[in-house]
Amino acid sequence: GFLSLLMAALPSAFFPPTTPASYSRSDFGPNFHWGVSTAAYQTEGSWAADGKGPSIWDAFVRGRRAIKGRHTGDVATDFYHRWPADLDLMQALGIPDFRFSAAWARVMPTGTGPVHAPGLDFYDRLVDGCLERGIRPWLTVYHWDLPQALQQRGGWTNRAVVGWLADYAHVLAARLGDRVQHWMVLNEPMVFTGAGHLLGVHAPGRRSLGAFLAATHHAALAQAEGGRALRAALPASTSIGTTFSCSYLMPWRPGLPRDERATRRADAVLNRLFVEPAAGLGYPVADAPFLSRLERYMQPGDEAALPFAFDFWGVQNYTREVVRHAPYVPLLWANLVGAVRRGVPYTQMGWEVFPESIYHMLKQFGAYAQAPRLLVTENGAAFPDVLVAGTVPDVAREAYLRACIGQVLRAQRDGVPVDGYFAWSFTDNFEWAEGYEPRFGLVHVEYETQRRTVKNSGYWYQRLLAGEEVCT
Ligand code: NOJ
Repeated sequence: GFLSLLMAALPSAFFPPTTPASYSRSDFGPNFHWGVSTAAYQTEGSWAADGKGPSIWDAFVRGRRAIKGRHTGDVATDFYHRWPADLDLMQALGIPDFRFSAAWARVMPTGTGPVHAPGLDFYDRLVDGCLERGIRPWLTVYHWDLPQALQQRGGWTNRAVVGWLADYAHVLAARLGDRVQHWMVLNEPMVFTGAGHLLGVHAPGRRSLGAFLAATHHAALAQAEGGRALRAALPASTSIGTTFSCSYLMPWRPGLPRDERATRRADAVLNRLFVEPAAGLGYPVADAPFLSRLERYMQPGDEAALPFAFDFWGVQNYTREVVRHAPYVPLLWANLVGAVRRGVPYTQMGWEVFPESIYHMLKQFGAYAQAPRLLVTENGAAFPDVLVAGTVPDVAREAYLRACIGQVLRAQRDGVPVDGYFAWSFTDNFEWAEGYEPRFGLVHVEYETQRRTVKNSGYWYQRLLAGEEVCT
């Protein structure tokens, strides 16, 4: 259909000339981690089962500013019940690493206080289920589903969240730390602060610069404090990371000073805001002066509390953005020139297909003197899949993944210490404000029946992991 035509017309979008002509798994080295990523709210469903408390997403999907199609994560892919079969499928596909998150409100229904045994037991069984199948679990402590009870106390805008998060991280570590060797504190803090507190399109749906700045500083502190809580509770050999969203940015009119300046500001906010305080560099105020307002939320000692020596940084990349100076919208996203406007190929999310972005971002993150090893903890693309006669011929997704993984190899060959790649996502799932329409999975989910069908891209990933050579 449309996408194959598009690919025939524009193969360079999927396979830029810098893509290695062929590669195989062994090119990445024997210690490279290969996985898939998911998150609790996007897959588990069972939002109120077995004593789980409501999260800000449970509240948000019921609120006025609803999700496309009025979809909710109430059922999602029913991973809460179907995880054994899903892990069997993962094992059958030869996927060795699985990144998922724990739902805070399952473990502590009101966010603080006593641990809710049935909730923690669920993750205990899930971890064992991974290990029984030879799958390495990678646990994200916080993937956006703050307990609603904590939101009622101000959520991320309340500085106490730093301690709440650290206590919750400690609970997970104490129970699962004997078996989970790879941890991530936060998933994409830029997104839950920006989309959640400034744009209002994600939970908790705030639209306030003050809320955004407060949430930003508390998330940056929580990222480090969470790291310290994990370090204190986990065996010394455990690796502790956190993840960052990022997009390669280019000015709309290269060389035009005001577009160049807008691009540097967008880079400071979208790509550098959380990694630099973690690296001990402070907030990138010089390139985004409005960030000096973060000082209002700083307390004595905070500068020393922001850095943490993570064992790895998770780099999560999907696209690039083109930035234009816009005099009346001085803040963040308003001056991005969308892919549709630029007439370039784009995904179901409206994101430009630009595989080289991941190469540039790995170079950018790897260039910090303080950079630990890097892993791509998410990368993928949503396309409107069709299920025909039991197959999903998702040529565009396969091409996109092939090109992106080639760009990861390119970065590694340039000397960037990247040693993992996780596709987003294992199955189709609840894509936040966009509901179920965008499909990111290597495995198709028919939501009416919960039937799983491995897409062609999933079989392609299986062949790559089995050691077969891939040619572009
Ligand atoms: C980043 C987020 O971590 C994940 O939850 C989301 O589904 C993907 N990007 C795709 O938008």
